[in-house]
Parts: sequence; C-alpha cells; structure tokens
Amino acid sequence: MSARDQFLKAFGEAQREGRKHFLEEESDSLLLAYGIPVAASVLAKNADEAGMAASKLGFPVVEKIVSPDILHKSDVGGVKINITSEEEARAAFDQISSQVLRAVSKARIQGVLVQKMIKGGTETIVGGSRDPQFGPVVVFGLGGIFVEILKDVSFRVAPIDREEALDMIKEIRSAPILNGFRGTPAADKEALASVIVSVGRLMIENPEISSLDLNPVMALPSGAVTVDSRILIG
Ligand SMILES: Nc1ncnc2c1ncn2[C@@H]1O[C@H](COP(=O)(O)OP(=O)(O)OP(=O)(O)O)[C@@H](O)[C@H]1O
Ligand SMILES: [Mg+2]
Repeated sequence: MSARDQFLKAFGEAQREGRKHFLEEESDSLLLAYGIPVAASVLAKNADEAGMAASKLGFPVVEKIVSPDILHKSDVGGVKINITSEEEARAAFDQISSQVLRAVSKARIQGVLVQKMIKGGTETIVGGSRDPQFGPVVVFGLGGIFVEILKDVSFRVAPIDREEALDMIKEIRSAPILNGFRGTPAADKEALASVIVSVGRLMIENPEISSLDLNPVMALPSGAVTVDSRILIG
C-alpha cells in the first residue's frame, strides 16, 4: 500500500467514527510509511496484557494511558517511564488507570500503551501546521523548556530538502546541545533531518492533515525515534 493509501484508509476510518485525530496505531503506521521511526509498542487492555507486552518488547518499557479524553497524558499521571520488570508493568497499568480517573473522572480508558523505552537521547520536537499564507510549515526545536518557554524553534515551508532540514537544526540557539557535551554524545543530525524532510512530505501529500506534532523525537547518537505523536485532521 502506498503511503497516501495508508493515510486515506486511516482518514476514512476516523471520519466514520467522527474523530478529528488519529489513534496511536494509525499515527504510528502512517509515520512508518513515511520512513519516520517510531518506538515499538503494544496496546494492553488489562494489567496481565501489560505485563506480557512488556516482556515481549523487552525492558525497560514506558506505559501511557490511551484515552480520547486525555490530551496531555503526563499532566494527569498517565505516563510511567523506566518500568523494568513484568510485575512492575502489571502494577503500572492499575496505577496509571486510577491516577487518570482521579484527575478526569469521566475519562474513557481504552487501555494502556506499553512502549519500548528509548534511552540516551535528547528530546526534540518536529511539528507540521498550515499557514493561510505560506501553506504547509514545519517547525523544529528541542523538547521541554526550549520550545515551551524559550520559543527556540526554526521554521521552513515544505517541501524541505535535506540541506534545508540540516540548516533548521543548526539555526536554533540551543543547537550546541545536539553537538554533545559533558559525556553526552552528539546527536545524529542526518537522522533528525530525515524526520524533518519526511514531515514536510507528509504535510504536502496529505492536505487533510491540519496539524501534526511529534513530541518528543528522541535524537540518538545513531538514529532518531518518535515516542509520542499527534495527528489532527481537518
Ligand atoms: N518511549 C519512551 N522512551 C523514553 N522516554 C519516554 C518515552 N515515552 C515518553 N517518554 C518521556 O515521557 C515524556 C512524556 O511522554 P509523552 O510525550 O508520550 O506524553 P505527553 O503527556 O503526551 O506529553 P506532551 O503532552 O508534552 O506531548 C516524554 O517527553 C519523555 O520525556
Ligand atoms: Mg508528548
């Protein structure tokens, strides 16, 4: 199936269900179809399934709430990282579910996503949106305070080629962090650039996407892996 066909299948399904966003597995398949690496994950419906999924994926893992009513999972106790045993994985399922229900009592919980933990990376974000004047725009920055407080980001209008993507990475003020410091190895900038180029393609080839947010993309010494994504459709 072509990447566009992959999109249209998920888009059709979302429309039938009246959804304005893609489900976790829909986002992951679409990103993979565009050559964007995503962390391996399994949806667990109960604590036992979470334990089995964790063993299958290999430790450590991360668990995250899956609910159409929760936008920011960590804000409501919906994310637990560094789970190192099957027993811990089972307990985390119940812990996450009850924390989320305490924060949002009416939340519909579809399960918990058990995901491979990606260690030793720097958190970056890659986003796509549509500007009424310029059309599809891609944004890049470092995760956390760098984007949220310092607004240290770079933009380009898609399509974006490899050279332009590398420029976007160099352009942010916090770029030196990606060159490695104090024992932290340098990030693989080619891998990051490839994610940026692909997000540009995704926005151009699928005009039904209103915005897309990969937050974070873990920039590793070799490779770059998306661990959280949100795709909104118009
Ligand atoms: N697979 C993973 N490997 C390593 N760290 C992870 C993984 N998944 C999540 N994290 C860590 O947990 C944080 C929160 O996870 P995630 O982004 O999935 O939840 P979120 O609440 O939706 O965040 P936001 O609302 O900021 O997008 C990440 O920024 C990252 O620091
Ligand atoms: Mg996130």
